[in-house]
Amino acid sequence: MEEIKVQLTTTPKQKPADESKLGFGKIFTDHMFVMDYTDGHWHDPRIVPYGPLDLTPACMCLHYSQEVFEGMKAYRGVDGKIRLFRPEQNFARLNSSNDRLSIPLIDEELAEKALEMLVDIDSDWVPHTDGASLYIRPFIIGTEDALGAHTSTEYKFIIIMSPSGSYYAGGLAPVKIYVETKYVRAVIGGTGYAKTGGNYAASLKAQDIAAEQGYSQVLWLDGVERKYIEEVGAMNVFFVLGDEIVTPMLRGSILPGITRKSVIEVLKHMGYKVSERLITVEELIEANAKGEFKEMFGTGTAAVISPVGELKCGDTIIPINNGKIGEISQMLYDKITGMQFGKIPDEFGWTVVVK
Ligand code: PLP
Ligand code: COI
Repeated sequence: MEEIKVQLTTTPKQKPADESKLGFGKIFTDHMFVMDYTDGHWHDPRIVPYGPLDLTPACMCLHYSQEVFEGMKAYRGVDGKIRLFRPEQNFARLNSSNDRLSIPLIDEELAEKALEMLVDIDSDWVPHTDGASLYIRPFIIGTEDALGAHTSTEYKFIIIMSPSGSYYAGGLAPVKIYVETKYVRAVIGGTGYAKTGGNYAASLKAQDIAAEQGYSQVLWLDGVERKYIEEVGAMNVFFVLGDEIVTPMLRGSILPGITRKSVIEVLKHMGYKVSERLITVEELIEANAKGEFKEMFGTGTAAVISPVGELKCGDTIIPINNGKIGEISQMLYDKITGMQFGKIPDEFGWTVVVK
């Protein structure tokens, strides 16, 4: 493994004085990780002061969106230890996205080591406030200077970090979600399962329309039949229908969330009936009429477990659990954040202590 060089900043920034006002992803730590790909190989892994990149206007990612990213967090535990949550899963998914976007694969072990070094160096930036954490954004961009639409021959792999509060301004309060029937985010065979900027660019218009109507995120339907529920802008979704907990199956069009996977494993371990299958809005409307639609929640690194209090589909509005946090949503929030913040034992071996 190539040595990771470290150049520390000589001008450290002021850390945020009031952690209750962090917001999400707005301020950045003192250092970042950078590695280059040229002449057919990744090289020069290094930690350097956080700062602007030197890119030319012809840089390929700016034109053809050849880029991938990840989202993960470092948590300051109640025991003072700093933990990552299943980081190897993020780097494995980064490589799966790389493969789809024709980006050369990275060495996952080196990436995890680099991240642990970076978090260690900037450990004073991991928030101390309950619920806040250090959001970590690894990403790779095609950097060749060329306008032909082809696979870039040069790349940069970068990791930046941002002390962040809750993703939604309302914290754990239930969010309102709008079912999108005109636009689609992804189709099977496309890039839906990869974490790449284009998927998010494709979702912004619907997101804006939903926001104008007071909804925090869009629930996407499948791109072919416009019938099956897929996922929300930055979260996978779960429904508690009677005694069954249902989440859309992975068919290539939605992101295979690491929180989703963890929630399924926790629920199964606790003996709940969990189904990964197709699910339609009609089924939700019917379950609601029978009084069986008990809870809906989203799962994601940024959003953690996010209860949904209302679903709007066309003219139909489905209130869920009287707009309150459901029992299972709360239990999962406590369990997942409990492990992340070292409040409960990590019986699954998912957390990695950095220091
Ligand atoms: N779906 C989308 C579109 C996302 O952007 C995210 C967040 O990364 C998720 C789902 C949840 O994935 P994870 O739990 O790995 O953060
Ligand atoms: C996540 O990392 O959880 C995300 O959803 C990324 C997002 C802010 C677009």
